[in-house]
Amino acid sequence: MAAPPPKADIDWANLSLAANLTVNGHIEIRHSRSTNTWSNPVFVSSPNISINGLSPALNYGQQCYEGLKAFRVPLSSSSPQTKIHIFRPKFHSARLSRSAASIMLPCPSEALFLESLRQAVAQNAEYVPPHDTDSYLYIRPVLFGSSANLALSPGEETILAIYVQPIRPYHGSDALDGLVLDEFDRAAPRGMGQFKVGGNYAPVWRHQARAKEMGYGITLHLDSKEREFVEEFSTSGFLGHYTSTQKKKDVLVVPVTESAIASTTADSIIRLAELDDQHWTVEKKELRFGEVGDLDEVVAVGTAASAVPIRSITRLETDQKFVFDKSENGKLKGLAGRMADIQRGRATDTEDWCWVV
Ligand code: COI
Repeated sequence: MAAPPPKADIDWANLSLAANLTVNGHIEIRHSRSTNTWSNPVFVSSPNISINGLSPALNYGQQCYEGLKAFRVPLSSSSPQTKIHIFRPKFHSARLSRSAASIMLPCPSEALFLESLRQAVAQNAEYVPPHDTDSYLYIRPVLFGSSANLALSPGEETILAIYVQPIRPYHGSDALDGLVLDEFDRAAPRGMGQFKVGGNYAPVWRHQARAKEMGYGITLHLDSKEREFVEEFSTSGFLGHYTSTQKKKDVLVVPVTESAIASTTADSIIRLAELDDQHWTVEKKELRFGEVGDLDEVVAVGTAASAVPIRSITRLETDQKFVFDKSENGKLKGLAGRMADIQRGRATDTEDWCWVV
């Protein structure tokens, strides 16, 4: 069935996560610990949620979240009508479930999560941007302990609220200069770094703000124990490229670490490289910062970021600066473009990633 067209009175070229656009509403589902049941999805037009001030979410950070994308694509090549699909919702359901378990929150089944996503997008269908823009509908599910419990344990009620916002890529599309954050450890070894909890984000802001004042567009975390291995950017994952003259192939370099959040975008780009094994080989390894200098391209990849080219990375503590001349128009950009073609319905979705609302 055709989706309602995009709203006519929105400036689709100037969207951002900071805009806090008023949309039609959000979806809520509630879990009761005593009956171990979830409610059905409920559409709520107000963006506000009533939450007990003594809740574990507000007092102890018992909260995690997700970020997904929905796209508007033509119904067929000859049709002016469109449909809407969500990119890899099952990947996000699994990631939410891991984050929830890490802080003792119940998590809805995949089926209930997908149905709640479907309703959140369908109820806001006219906020899904036109298909010929680089914008998309960002979907933000947030899961948190909402009833009173000052004891250091889970309370009775948990809420999953699913919000949407039309946005453009978080960092824009111009190449960014990166800075290694040596003065701050994002994630302890065997800690929480791999989980998508709010506590992994806000503590970085003051360091990001300082880096921005110094002219850097993005910040990079190395591991906290050795200060040696690449983990991830503060907003997104890390992917690198070099050409292997020996193998005569493009090499997609993927840092392996237990402390980074699994990125849907990285996972999709890796899969596309694996599928194109005539041209690509994927190298997953613990990546020493020194080896970053051997790369000719780096991109920062994430749901909100999409795939943003990295022009350089500076490490002030060791006086190192690596420049990636090819990031802006290189092979990684090409792979990311193939993913975008699938997301936007311009290429066949052989991996069954797009889930029609
Ligand atoms: C996302 O990409 O979905 C995130 O949660 C990262 C954040 C910078 C918006």
